[in-house]
Formats: sequence, C-alpha cells, structure tokens
Amino acid sequence: MQNDVLEDVSAFFDWYKTVYGNTVRFDGRVDLSLSADIEKTPIAIKQQAAPQQASVKKPYIPKKATKGIDELLIHQGNAEMKAFYHEINKCAKCGLGHTRANFVFGMGNPQADIMFIGEAPGRDEDLQGLPFVGKAGQLLDKMLFALRFKREDVFIANVLKCRPPNNRDPLPDEVMHCEPYLKKQIKLIQPKVIIALGRISAQVLLKTQDSLGSMRQKDHSYENIPFIVTYHPAALLRNPRWKASAWIDLKKIGGFINGQ
Ligand code: URA
Repeated sequence: MQNDVLEDVSAFFDWYKTVYGNTVRFDGRVDLSLSADIEKTPIAIKQQAAPQQASVKKPYIPKKATKGIDELLIHQGNAEMKAFYHEINKCAKCGLGHTRANFVFGMGNPQADIMFIGEAPGRDEDLQGLPFVGKAGQLLDKMLFALRFKREDVFIANVLKCRPPNNRDPLPDEVMHCEPYLKKQIKLIQPKVIIALGRISAQVLLKTQDSLGSMRQKDHSYENIPFIVTYHPAALLRNPRWKASAWIDLKKIGGFINGQ
C-alpha cells in the first residue's frame, strides 16, 4: 500500500478512535468507499465508555478566565490582529455587549491556512473568553487531532463574539453588527479554506436559508476563499451517526491546503 493511502486509512481510524473509543464495528451497511450518503444509513457502532487513548492529546484546557490578546494568538507578531482586538473587544453595539461575561474574539494562529467558524459563544466560552472550550469544543479538538492539527495550527472564531442568552439563535441585528468583525478577521488571516461549523454560521456567511444538508453537498466560497459546510460539533454530540459524514466533509480540507 502506498504511504499516502496508509496515512489516509490511519487518519480515518484515528477519527473513529478519538470519537468512539476502542470499539468500532462496521456491519456491512457502511459504504467504506465514503461515497454513500452515510447520514441516511443506519450505522451500527457499539458505543462504550472507552478509556482515553494514550496517543490522544488532552483537550485544550485554559488556565484562567478572561483572556488578553497575547494569550489568544499563537504568533505574537501579528500587530494588525492585536490592534483589531483592542479596537473591538469592548463592543456594545448590540444588547449582547451588556449581557456577556467576556468578549470572545477567537483564538489560534493569525497566519493559519485553516479557519473554523462557529455560531456564537456558549456558556463555557462566555465564562472563559475562549471559543469552543465546552463539550463541543473538546470534540472539535478531537476532530483536529484526527486531521493531524492542533488548535494552535488553525484559527477558531464565531459569527457572534458575545453569547446570546440561553444560547438562542443570533438575531439579525446582532449578526449585522458582528459579521464585519469576522470579515475583518478573515481578511487579516487570509486562510486557504474556511470551515463553517453548523447551519447558522453557514447560512449567515453564505446569505442563504438553505438547509445544512443541502449546503453540505455544494461547493462554496466566501470572499473568494473555499468554504466547507459541515456539522456543528454540538450536533455531532447529539447525533453521533453523523460523524462519518462530518469526516467526509473535513477530509476536503487537505485538497485546499495541499493544492491537491
Ligand atoms: N458553539 C459555537 O458555535 N461556538 C462556540 O464557541 C462554542 C459553541
């Protein structure tokens, strides 16, 4: 077997190992060519509370609450991104500026090739000032691990920088005020590919009301940057059978960053 095929197979099983633990059982109904619509196919996977793999890196655990920009950015040289943080981190253009605990700017490598965009901070994110640090964030870390990335290799942001009360969907005026911040971050980072995590971020950025299922099946771009739509990690936690389809989405990233 060629090395790249081996690497592919090994990454595929890492995805399953990190997500399902040690026990993975394919019962013949799963098309391993990965071309089937696995989302609609019942997949028999024996779930068990498996011990953590020795090889699996621990999820990112922030050390203290509110973050300053120096703790959010991996490459500190990015003066423009820092200046932008200072420009916007006291924002109170919409009501969320008055109810948030922390402004969640985003974090990672401001020179990253890959940018992940979620919907809005949840409770954990609001408390810690960091994106994707709750249960969904821990799954995102596992997804990154299976793709051979760490959180520090990518940039993670949200459409909204402040938590909507009770995690309700973003309101149009919140998006109207906040989307320009995300747009500016994308302009500063200039990633080679953007991954929208979930229906809301994809709908907001693509200016459509299409369903997640329909957006996943199409090629998109945002500001001329290839744009992949996949499931939100929180949705994958609720519906583990979608993880196989998410893997297919995430595998597309390689094609954009390696120029394949
Ligand atoms: N969900 C999101 O969309 N973003 C986060 O940062 C956390 C949960």
